[in-house]
Amino acid sequence: MRNTRATQLLFELSRPGRRSARLPAADVPAVPLETLVPRAALATAPPPLPELTEPELVRHFTNLSTQNMSVDTHFYPLGSCTMKYNPKRNERLASLSGMVDLHPYQSESTLQGLLELLHDLQEILAEISGLPAVSLQPAAGAHGELTALLVAAAHFRQLGQTRTKVLAPDSAHGTNPASAAMAGFDTVTVKSTPAGYVDMDDLAAKLDGETAVFMITNPNTLGMFDRHIADIARRVHDVGGLIYLDGANMNAILGITRPGDFGADMMHFNPHKTFSGPHGGGGPGAGPIAVSETLAPYLPVPIVTRDGDRFRLDFDRPHSIGRVRAFFGNVGVLVRAYCYIRTHGPEGLRRVAENAILNANYLLSKVKHIFPVPQGDRCMHEFVASAQKLKSDRGVSAMDIAKRLLDYGFHAPTVYFPSTVRESMMIEPTETESKETLDAFAQTLFRISEEPPDLLHEAPHTTSISRPDEVRAARQSLVAWRAAK
Ligand SMILES: Cc1ncc(COP(=O)(O)O)c(C=O)c1O
Repeated sequence: MRNTRATQLLFELSRPGRRSARLPAADVPAVPLETLVPRAALATAPPPLPELTEPELVRHFTNLSTQNMSVDTHFYPLGSCTMKYNPKRNERLASLSGMVDLHPYQSESTLQGLLELLHDLQEILAEISGLPAVSLQPAAGAHGELTALLVAAAHFRQLGQTRTKVLAPDSAHGTNPASAAMAGFDTVTVKSTPAGYVDMDDLAAKLDGETAVFMITNPNTLGMFDRHIADIARRVHDVGGLIYLDGANMNAILGITRPGDFGADMMHFNPHKTFSGPHGGGGPGAGPIAVSETLAPYLPVPIVTRDGDRFRLDFDRPHSIGRVRAFFGNVGVLVRAYCYIRTHGPEGLRRVAENAILNANYLLSKVKHIFPVPQGDRCMHEFVASAQKLKSDRGVSAMDIAKRLLDYGFHAPTVYFPSTVRESMMIEPTETESKETLDAFAQTLFRISEEPPDLLHEAPHTTSISRPDEVRAARQSLVAWRAAK
């Protein structure tokens, strides 16, 4: 049943005179504000802030937080965006006082432990990627893409070559062409074959001396490992271009193969998808990049280096593209990734990938009879099923199914991406889910596929908001509260 009690805003709950805290009078002499700020810039009345007691405030925010689904409360099979469970141990370790009480302006001599950890992490990521030089600076996967493309641009500038094109397959994540454009390149789309791999003829037709970089996600967003990757890399290298590996799907190949070994010159990691870390929105994350020896001189500053048994931040890198982020990068996230990697060890990381693949294939085999998987009977860590048949037969769309899943306590998979599959549902169970959870999800999908279309068109029926106009919400968002007239 729908929760019909609309959530009231703090402003609506406010009653004059209520307080959550009473502060003692200041015991330092007041400085006349006019001496600090011009009088004209001073407000003439206090801001109309909501006035509430502490329990009202706590209940408001606690109730709001329970309206969300999260990986800690529900199965969250969001393909591509990989919502894997983050072990609480890593959160705890990253919150130790030896981590959180540090300040970036401390002298390096008092930060040796942290610098050693970051140095270790650089080396570990170099080992996992098969690429020798690492920067921990970028703040998200997309930022890693941009940083690496700026590195590539600096490399070609140094060679005196003008290369204007970045190629990316039509199944690429939207951030790939966006990053290319931000780095000043023109993006050119390369077609995929019906089986979901890079169309080699189209690639050959578009590759030329203007090609700077070919960006490829492998395994790709259809959950398929492109077995032509070595051939693709050879062809791109033959015209003097570079291979960028979008490492968002590294959780499927950890310890099994390495981008540097199959031809990549540079890549980014998404620590929250591959290791452990907070999710969401391009930050508060990290997107470390790894590059070949040739590209190492252009990496952003600083790099953590070792001199004997001391560690320091190296800013003395004349060919560097400069800073891309303040201080040391997003240290809290990097520490979580480090803890995850060290807890698993090399064998454990390989098992993470194997279990991610096993779970995805198990689920694929369970759902493909109801929702065909156009790109094959086998997948890596995720797969793209299609609701097209249900749409043609009964008018039920992928969106209807996604919305109805919420009523059953499952977060929806990613829908309508990639756009190369009609009515697509991109499902990624991740390695931590049990067989019982996967079975329950498959049974629920089956049950939904038999429900009356009208019930599905109106779903979800149990959430406080059912179907907002998402386009209007994005284009005409009202983020400021105004009192009702
Ligand atoms: C394939 C792929 N590439 C790049 C990104 C961008 O990563 P981030 O969200 O960390 O910026 C994502 C994120 O969803 C992704 O799925």
